[in-house]
Amino acid sequence: MSSPAVIESIAGIRSRFAAGAAQLVPTMGALHEGHLALVERALELGDRVVVSVFVNPLQFAPGEDLARYPRDFDADLATLARYPVEAVFHPAAEEMYPHGAAQTQVRAGDLGAAFEGRSRPGHFDGVLTVVAKLLGIVRPEHVLFGEKDAQQLFLVRRMVTDLDIATRVEEVGTVRAPDGLALSSRNRYLDDEHRRAARALSRALEAAGSAADRGVDAVVAAAQSVLMGEELVALDYLGIVDPSTFRPVDDDHRGPARVLIAAQVGPARLIDTDTIYLN
Ligand code: PAF
Repeated sequence: MSSPAVIESIAGIRSRFAAGAAQLVPTMGALHEGHLALVERALELGDRVVVSVFVNPLQFAPGEDLARYPRDFDADLATLARYPVEAVFHPAAEEMYPHGAAQTQVRAGDLGAAFEGRSRPGHFDGVLTVVAKLLGIVRPEHVLFGEKDAQQLFLVRRMVTDLDIATRVEEVGTVRAPDGLALSSRNRYLDDEHRRAARALSRALEAAGSAADRGVDAVVAAAQSVLMGEELVALDYLGIVDPSTFRPVDDDHRGPARVLIAAQVGPARLIDTDTIYLN
């Protein structure tokens, strides 16, 4: 398979792809099987796939891992060459933000300050701003996101609706390692000991699912007991939300609910999520 065209300029993307011509997989690089599941789904939706690789400075709060975020563009390109991806959009920060940080930004609203947003102030404004720019540049028919970043997905869907953007948002399920750990570029920060401890996140989701027929309090207790039992895991938050609103469920909630977990595991901040059914 031949390598995808590498396009670094906005003008280059604009002249190659008419509105609605491409399927877009936005990434920050350090590609893993989770990203490749997005690429595979994009190729089912259409034969002209663009993968963007851009570590977006706007979505990192001061003190976060922007400087050390894994970057290996050559390896990413070699990985993508296994697929009939037409183009990789790989802009420099100056191409995306020629005046420094974008003066006009998308605000994620109060939900942008909950869960991930409470621990990472400004994160979702940065995500939505870059995604809005990418959608404006590529004008894709579909844009694809992973289920693992459930809050990001929810907020992108809402932005696309609120701003009448002519792109369909497609969700792709979480890809997991055989032991259950959700794939993430940040897993690269984990040494063997922390990698083992990180399994507590997916084990906590399983425990939550098993407790679902006993109500919300039982779900929280079951997940917490797994997470608290792993001393290398520092829980940031455990949330149970209504998937239609992303607001915490009431005690008497029935039907699907999304469990959200974020934790610091040594050097890596990890998140995971799953849907459970409360009876
Ligand atoms: O999920 C990510 O990798 C990023 O948040 C995204 C959507 C590529 C925006 O920078």
